[in-house]
Amino acid sequence: MKEKITVVGTGYVGLTLGVCLASLGHCVICVDKDKEKINKLKKGISPIFEPGVEDLLRKHKKNISFTTDIENSFQNSEIIFIAVGTPPKNNGNINMTFFWEVAKELKKISDKNHIHRIVAIKSTVPVGTSDKLADILGNKFSVVFNPEFLREGSAVKDFLNPDRIILGTKSEKAKKRILKIYSSIAAPKVFTDTKSAELIKYASNSFLATKISFINEIANICEKVGANVSEVAEGVGLDKRIGKQFLNAGVGYGGSCFPKDVEALIKIADSKKYDFRILKAAFAVNEYQRKNFAGKIKKVLEKEGGKDICVWGLSFKPNTDDIRKSPAIEIIKTLQKEGYKIKAYDPVAIENAKKELILPNIEFSESPFLAAKGSDVLVLVTEWSEFLKTDMKKIKEAMRRPNIIDGRNAFDSKKMKRMGFYYEGVGVR
Ligand code: UGA
Repeated sequence: MKEKITVVGTGYVGLTLGVCLASLGHCVICVDKDKEKINKLKKGISPIFEPGVEDLLRKHKKNISFTTDIENSFQNSEIIFIAVGTPPKNNGNINMTFFWEVAKELKKISDKNHIHRIVAIKSTVPVGTSDKLADILGNKFSVVFNPEFLREGSAVKDFLNPDRIILGTKSEKAKKRILKIYSSIAAPKVFTDTKSAELIKYASNSFLATKISFINEIANICEKVGANVSEVAEGVGLDKRIGKQFLNAGVGYGGSCFPKDVEALIKIADSKKYDFRILKAAFAVNEYQRKNFAGKIKKVLEKEGGKDICVWGLSFKPNTDDIRKSPAIEIIKTLQKEGYKIKAYDPVAIENAKKELILPNIEFSESPFLAAKGSDVLVLVTEWSEFLKTDMKKIKEAMRRPNIIDGRNAFDSKKMKRMGFYYEGVGVR
């Protein structure tokens, strides 16, 4: 059955959800209070870089509309997805302002008419939020917590091919109706209560972040004993109980989700007087990875001389322009403070990075080659495929000193050494 659906929030999750639901044939209204974003979207332009989103937007334009008028959009749909940002506060708690603003609008509409509506929450929210929303909205609404597991950079693919669909709700009717929306997506379904569903989201992200921190510690041990973490990860990951994914060692996890969700789950546990020891360690290891990596860059420059650093990659991972909690940004800020001069290149994230990285000592280049020209060390922080296709012979000739510090083990260390580079990765020989 095709539904009329409102999606509130046009960030990475909301916009992907909107265009994907439109591609499934539903009639979607996307709402955002940001007029500039909505104007772009009306013209078929995506305000974010996310592969596939703009294509779907244009292809299914008949099924999707954009507005800043939240009240009117609610009048027109019985199913409302909330996908607004729940960013972290400075103290690690979650800022729920946008979420509760939407709740207020929903309450207004219920006071005006008698239609029963279903509210599906996509935003990652503290445990207990869905129940609190249900209490506030009363019996004209059914609330479902339906977490999203898409990754930036492969959001459309992940949305349309999920590993599972989680529905946390008390309402059998709401469950059935949301299930129908996803009827053409083949994936195991898990039906549970709202609190468990909310925790599934935090536990999933925190487990993956812990997996990354674990392999990063193994990488650090590899460096001490002379082993190779890529081969260790391959051998470990072939055990189906462990799995190959998320075993890439490097500068640690970034982005708008893992850092925030790890901290939030620690806080949730703390608030119940439970000390989440493993997660605190995963967090601490992640901080250490960046510091240790910046230390490697400084050490090579102290040994070999020079102050000019070329940084390849600014986004928190490839195929996105998102720089939130990007390891590259954090490492550059550390180096800037210590007086090093940086030339940076990224295929799509430079405009966003310019807002975050300010003078002195930073310059943005138009190509990987121009960034590397005249530098004393090349630092790879984000493993964009473009870097692996670059002619490294030319890069070596253009650099003042042939040093590579690779934060993602993206290059073949033996090949780089054969070419005459001094090469250091993270836990690789
Ligand atoms: C993550 C989850 O993977 C999604 O399932 C979830 O929906 C999303 O958060 C969210 O909560 O919205 P995302 O942050 O977009 O997705 O990207 P990931 O691919 O998970 O990468 C996160 C960070 O971990 C990146 O900085 C990446 O470079 C790093 N990473 C990933 C590693 O350092 N090693 C790995 O092996 C994998």
